[in-house]
Amino acid sequence: MDMDVTLLRNTLPEFGQEHLLDFWDDLSDEQRQALYTDLASLDLEDITRVFQNSMKSSENSQTKKDDRLEPFPEDMIAAVACTSDEQLDEWRSIGLELISEGKVAVLLLAGGQGTRLGVDYPKGMYSVDLPSGKTLYQLQAERIRKLEMLAENETEKRGKIVWYIMTSEHTGEKTEEFFSDHGYFGLNPKDVVTFEQGMRPCMTFDGKVILDEKWKIARAPDGNGGLYQAVAANGIVDDMKRRGIECMHIYCVDNILVKMADPVFIGYCHSKQADCGAKVVQKAFPTEAVGIVCKCDGKYQVVEYSEITIETAQKRNLDGRLTFNAGNICNHYLTVEFMESVIRENESKLKYHVAKKKIPYVDKSGKRISPDKPNGVKFEKFVFDVFEFASNFKLFEVLREDEFSPLKNGITAEKDTPTTARSALMSLHYRYILQAGGSFRDSGGQVLPLIPLRRSNSQSSFEVECEISPLLSYAGEGLAKIVRGNWYEPGHHFDVLVSPVKGNGHLPQPQKKKRKTDEQK
Ligand code: UTP
Repeated sequence: MDMDVTLLRNTLPEFGQEHLLDFWDDLSDEQRQALYTDLASLDLEDITRVFQNSMKSSENSQTKKDDRLEPFPEDMIAAVACTSDEQLDEWRSIGLELISEGKVAVLLLAGGQGTRLGVDYPKGMYSVDLPSGKTLYQLQAERIRKLEMLAENETEKRGKIVWYIMTSEHTGEKTEEFFSDHGYFGLNPKDVVTFEQGMRPCMTFDGKVILDEKWKIARAPDGNGGLYQAVAANGIVDDMKRRGIECMHIYCVDNILVKMADPVFIGYCHSKQADCGAKVVQKAFPTEAVGIVCKCDGKYQVVEYSEITIETAQKRNLDGRLTFNAGNICNHYLTVEFMESVIRENESKLKYHVAKKKIPYVDKSGKRISPDKPNGVKFEKFVFDVFEFASNFKLFEVLREDEFSPLKNGITAEKDTPTTARSALMSLHYRYILQAGGSFRDSGGQVLPLIPLRRSNSQSSFEVECEISPLLSYAGEGLAKIVRGNWYEPGHHFDVLVSPVKGNGHLPQPQKKKRKTDEQK
């Protein structure tokens, strides 16, 4: 690229960004070229406008929204716990039928930097140290494979669930390499479509673009709501239409329990003719820091805990439930048609939210500093900000212990750690074994209690370790014929149900039933 540095020198000051050329004289030719390309790609008007608008709405969001809120209308929610088995089965069949017709895709949001977890590779490659050693990506890939098989068994038609994965500059290359190195975990590479989201410059609190190196601007992915722009830029809707896909399940990479393309959820949304839907869980306690789905100014929105007062957070209905109870867990249903209309009509209306972060920077003397407290802002769109544009929006309330355990933090943190994620998965799987008629027992034949859900990192070993390969069971189905009447010693891994780390679908051998002593009978 030809360099017109004079033009830059004239333009940058108009927007208060002249400091970006402070180190120009120190740079090598190559570094100058890199910085020039970086700066020339900046839309200075856009970044100035986004900075001003989002800082203003961030200040406004300090004003509590209590008076503007209404709870989600009851008739637009279905709760799994209050729905008959027959109804759930009916929705499940509808979902499986759609899957077998190839009409359902899953869309993974995997562009985040995972700074709280603190590893230098994509979160999906993280292993929480399950007995199998499987990573989040592998668990998810195997759930897709199993679901395709379940749909085929039910309908005798084999449909594909195409897996769209949104990555970013931080996660793209490593994710692609990881899938390719692991043979796409048994999926057809043509059905795993990765695409990259956009990045935005990071700025100081007073609106200066931050230099990450003397020759490079600090940039961060534009939030999981960058999805809509990225889908548009990469022709993803056209790809979906070409493949005959009609709806998608959007989810986050870090929820170890995620039920990808959950046929019950898909069937529910489809049968209600929803164009957009969200899975929610009941808030665990009034002050839990989770966004709630409700109506604000008459529009469906996710309102952050910090945006309401404690009085509103604690408000209860006559039946004892919290009035604002629908905790958002980032599991969304969108029809392809709705996605298309969002891109066409609404994407530009989505606001950037400000996230105050510690952003490494080059100081005045040219030294690179890693700050220990927030020194700047990133600008992020949120995936759920499109709820308000839906014409038929529905909620599906599921059980937290069955469906939600996010991995956000490193091992020493208080919550949402590798330990809590591991315990959530193993606890769920042990419940599946119990429901199917098997159990773990101690040497005296006593059934061992459920694996407790760990809320913190206090202890990392477990009395019972239980992991079921997704290739064996997607959500507890099909286990009875293997485990009914069997019991297992606590030190004995449930390895018949655990496929090897790089396993591609070994079906387990039936576990030998242990002979019971007379005393135990
Ligand atoms: P989080 O908001 O938890 O962010 O993302 P994160 O990047 O994983 O972690 P921190 O905040 O840096 O510690 C929720 C989901 O949204 C995705 C993440 O990959 C995760 O699945 N995400 C987030 C994106 O896809 N793009 C983004 O720009 C931000």
